[in-house]
Amino acid sequence: MRKRIVAGNWKMNKTLKEARELTRGLMDEMNGHIPNGDVILVPAFPVLEAVVRELDGHEAIAVGAQNMAWEERGAYTGEVSVEMLQSVGVTHVLIGHSERRQYMNEDHALLKKKLDLALSKGVTPIYCCGEQLEDREAGRHFELVGQQIEEVLFHLDADALKNVVIAYEPVWAIGTGLTATSAQAEEMHAHIRQLLAGKFGDVAEFISILYGGSCKPDNAPELFACPNVDGGLIGGASLKVPDFMGIIKAMS
Ligand code: PGA
Repeated sequence: MRKRIVAGNWKMNKTLKEARELTRGLMDEMNGHIPNGDVILVPAFPVLEAVVRELDGHEAIAVGAQNMAWEERGAYTGEVSVEMLQSVGVTHVLIGHSERRQYMNEDHALLKKKLDLALSKGVTPIYCCGEQLEDREAGRHFELVGQQIEEVLFHLDADALKNVVIAYEPVWAIGTGLTATSAQAEEMHAHIRQLLAGKFGDVAEFISILYGGSCKPDNAPELFACPNVDGGLIGGASLKVPDFMGIIKAMS
């Protein structure tokens, strides 16, 4: 009923040559394998177009950006607009990744603008949320993630929400090798879905909620088997073809 998705967030990795090699390697490996869901590559801005070209309309792999500007165009030196992204074939964009919240101080007002702009242009936002370790230790994780969902998504109407993908990424699990247990992931995903159902009704059942944070080929099958986990947002393991392929195959 819900779309399964595995997205590879390459972060600030891969030069042009490396990006082409990784894309080609993945396509070779995918040859003959029809994934049971969507695969999205999320490279850095300078290589987006090259990755789109390498994919050459591959029916199972889409391309997303890691960020976008909050305004449509104009005097915003160093920023990249949603239309620029679309013009090179980008269909998805990460909004609110914890590294941008942390290092670039992106707050909910800004994230809301970006999300609305992406939706208005028909680019699918992958909205990232997740608590810090101290929030979990203090038992505030449900409240905190709830706030991230409410403050950035609750102004939408149900029709708009249908076009949003959510990624739950506990910050303490990102790049640390510490994965949330499947029980921890499932309870947070169920909590998010319940919040969405309370506000938007039945449409909540159709929203894909991805798990992110040290997801690897060996833990992906158990995580993806949870009823409310609809795939993954993958960092480190998306940089190596065999690892990423292993995770793609865990979608069933
Ligand atoms: P990780 O990163 O898989 O390397 O933990 C996930 C992410 O930040 O999207």
